[in-house]
Amino acid sequence: MEKLVIEGGIPLKGEVVIGGAKNAAVAIMPAVVLADEGEFIIENLPFIEDIKCLEDILISLGAKVENLSDSAVKVNVDGIKDYRALSEAVKKMRASYYLLGSLLAKFGRAEVAFPGGCPIGVRPIDQHIKGFEAMGAKVTIEHGIIKAETQDGLKGAHIYLDVVSVGATINIMLAATKAKGVTTIENAAKEPHVVDVANFLNSMGAKVKGAGTDVIKIYGVDKLTACNYSVIPDQIEAGTYMVAAAATQGDVVLKNVIPKHLESITAKLLEMGVNVEEGEDTVRVYCDRKLKGINIKTLPYPGFPTDLQQPMSTLCTIAEGVSIINESIWEGRFKHCDELKRMGAKIKVEGRIAVIEGVQKLSGAEVSATDLRGGAALVVAGLVADGVTEVTNIIHIDRGYEKLEYKLQGLGAKIKRVKI
Ligand code: EPU
Repeated sequence: MEKLVIEGGIPLKGEVVIGGAKNAAVAIMPAVVLADEGEFIIENLPFIEDIKCLEDILISLGAKVENLSDSAVKVNVDGIKDYRALSEAVKKMRASYYLLGSLLAKFGRAEVAFPGGCPIGVRPIDQHIKGFEAMGAKVTIEHGIIKAETQDGLKGAHIYLDVVSVGATINIMLAATKAKGVTTIENAAKEPHVVDVANFLNSMGAKVKGAGTDVIKIYGVDKLTACNYSVIPDQIEAGTYMVAAAATQGDVVLKNVIPKHLESITAKLLEMGVNVEEGEDTVRVYCDRKLKGINIKTLPYPGFPTDLQQPMSTLCTIAEGVSIINESIWEGRFKHCDELKRMGAKIKVEGRIAVIEGVQKLSGAEVSATDLRGGAALVVAGLVADGVTEVTNIIHIDRGYEKLEYKLQGLGAKIKRVKI
């Protein structure tokens, strides 16, 4: 067990290099299963627990995995013969559900333990299942295992998603790569990581068209081959550092970003009075004035991402006036607010709405990371608070932020990891 100990009040200054996108990488790793044989080299992977977990899962399925560096991995898929992913690692993370789509496409059947993930609300997978069933699979859930099987492989289908779902869009895309005929996903998610996974699949020889719009067509192919690929930069990690720079009245240049992917957070920061300058693959965030409160509603891309709602809520706690946050994606994503209140924040949560009244300052306290992005929100709070903040339960943060304390130390923060 470890905790992060932060001495707050230091403006962050300098440069930080953003890592690969977690939510693209956690789909790309399961997608390697789709290749019949050969060796992948995947670069710009985030150095996070979720990726280590997926490496263990691939090994348990028969793959050979070699880490070339902290951000690159070689995966040989020749030995993958098992359609069952039932290890403990599968139960620990959310994205293990992508093995359903991949294994089902490869073997015509799949058994995957029910996925875990952050406690941010009910996390149904009915739309994933609806997609697989439309393609001819029979799906059952028994004893915590999701089983999907087909008589003679998957067939292309027309699928209209009832809700815009990143997971269902990607999972159906994975399953459809080798289906007979054409699959159309309507009301598809448009997130940058959906596009990145489509690009990865196309690099393997798949025919995925329209990713990034709300209609995706997948023309099934017989064979997919291993490839080399570099994952896009992490929009959410970048957004978190942007918020941290603004909160501490700092001046930070983020490198290895795609500014277009950051537009919704950039727009909100500008509205609050923060300065944001976009370069080609950099963003500079600096701030030297009191922030103004804002209203935020989380929405699927290109709307404001739910994954940045929690760090942004920290910023709102020290902004002038009242901010209103409407969380439209996950009903349980305000748990971190009780922790922020320990630090002096004034927040009222009513269902999916949080009303935040800005205070002059936060004060350091012992707080517990309730989930991944909630944990990041508390770290931002610790960076800006008076005195010392201790963030416990950081296992959540390690799942999705690479080398957090090192990157923050590089920006001048006083933060250290301590064994409990
Ligand atoms: N939904 C359904 N049925 C489904 C699937 C989703 O009703 O079958 C609903 C959900 O309850 C939610 C909404 O649709 O209200 C959107 O869920 P989505 O499927 O898009 O979420 P996800 O795929 O489970 C991914 C990210 C989340 C991120 C959401 C939304 C991964 C591994 N996770 O989850 O990331 O919040 O998309 O953008 O890609 C995080 O990184 O901290 C994180 C939680």
